[in-house]
Amino acid sequence: MEKHQQQPLQIGLAGFGNVGAGVYKNLIKNRALLEKRIGRALEIRRIVVRDPAKNRDVALPADLVSTDLDSLIDDDAIDIVVELIGGTDRAFELVKAALEKGKTVVTGNKALLAERGLELFAIADEKKTPIYFEAAVAGGIPIIKTVQESLVGNHIESVAGIINGTCNYILTRMTEAGLDYPEALNEAQNLGYAEADPTLDINGWDAAHKAIILASLSYGCWVPTEQIYVEGIEKITRRDIEFAQRFGYTVKLLAVIRLHPESSAIELRVQPSLIPRGHILASVNGVFNAILIRGDVVGETLFYGSGAGQDPTSSSVISDLADAALWRNTCEGQTGFVPHGLYGKPLPIDETDSKYYLRVEADDQPGVLAQIARVLGDHDIGILSVIQPEDHDPGSAPIVLMLHYARFGTIRQALAELRSLDCIREEPILMRVESL
Ligand SMILES: NC(=O)c1ccc[n+]([C@@H]2O[C@H](COP(=O)([O-])OP(=O)(O)OC[C@H]3O[C@@H](n4cnc5c(N)ncnc54)[C@H](OP(=O)(O)O)[C@@H]3O)[C@@H](O)[C@H]2O)c1
Repeated sequence: MEKHQQQPLQIGLAGFGNVGAGVYKNLIKNRALLEKRIGRALEIRRIVVRDPAKNRDVALPADLVSTDLDSLIDDDAIDIVVELIGGTDRAFELVKAALEKGKTVVTGNKALLAERGLELFAIADEKKTPIYFEAAVAGGIPIIKTVQESLVGNHIESVAGIINGTCNYILTRMTEAGLDYPEALNEAQNLGYAEADPTLDINGWDAAHKAIILASLSYGCWVPTEQIYVEGIEKITRRDIEFAQRFGYTVKLLAVIRLHPESSAIELRVQPSLIPRGHILASVNGVFNAILIRGDVVGETLFYGSGAGQDPTSSSVISDLADAALWRNTCEGQTGFVPHGLYGKPLPIDETDSKYYLRVEADDQPGVLAQIARVLGDHDIGILSVIQPEDHDPGSAPIVLMLHYARFGTIRQALAELRSLDCIREEPILMRVESL
């Protein structure tokens, strides 16, 4: 049959929230262009939501709506199930059932893939029907296809990413407007950049889910969630950002994925980190995301754009729909994740090295700095520089240190000793300094 004579591909859309509504709106807006490019029409056959009566910015087409997710599975005419409901339980059941029925799946659900991707990709492989997930990492930035396809000829040496727009907005406002963390978070919520419950963003786990997906694709072994080290931005204060600036750095929540060639082990972590102010990642501000990838053949590459939001994210979902259409024509290509076991396991976090920023709040008395220096010296941790500002509350004084390269495990032991000193008043703040 000629391409233009083929029946339209039938889509079952689960979820008509921020992203689902955007997919519907933009599929209609660019319908003619898409049909020409894909060579086949895409038609939404059913849309499933929880509450059809809800007020929405994009009108829900009444003739397509249902509240029954199973109806997407039971309808044999539906070729592609687009999962945009979020969460990991019901979404898992839906995706699993769709794959088992031989339907192609498109999802933007990073939590689902990070936690249960291995099970789902195994089913996709067995049933020879793919899962596409471009929207799951960095919203509108085409980073999944980049890693899977464009960089396929490379050993990935490292990935460094600013991949949570909410945290990046908060840290940017703390840096540029001198806001305290609660004020910046409040502003992000008022502008719709942070959820009413922002926990997964600010505790680093949203970025961690995305980092797990990028690491797994880069190194061909699905990384278990317990093997990534994650810290959020909740403890970072405006003063830390100011001190970092005095040392010539900008604070970002950074996902770092790095191959250690001598052991084949993979370093994998998400932490607030100091980046040299002149580095290109330091100028990625507001809700924007950026990902720096080094490959052994290509060298350094950088991807920048909107990491979330209705239109950017739906752009990625629609590109997946185009791939799904191609697959349904040819049944050729990979089904989502190709395990190959060419690299080693994740490197235990205590065995990773970097320089560090350390702030301790201590009694404002002579001899305190010497006590801190002794603990660090006992662990063979070198001090690169120290700031002890004069403007501080009476009695308690911040001491800010830049520390030389050291094992994270060694630093943690030194921190435990510092905490036990009588002169230390608060939990010390430690951040990595990334050389990139
Ligand atoms: N928002 C972004 O910028 C963004 C970016 C990248 C990836 N993602 C991912 O995309 C997915 C969707 O995000 P979103 O922001 O669009 O979420 P959202 O605005 O909360 O929308 C969720 C949609 O799913 C529906 N839904 C939830 N549970 C359901 C159930 N059990 N049965 C039927 N319908 C159900 C909701 O119905 P009602 O409308 O009736 O409540 C709603 O339409 C998530 O996995 C998210 O991580 C989002």
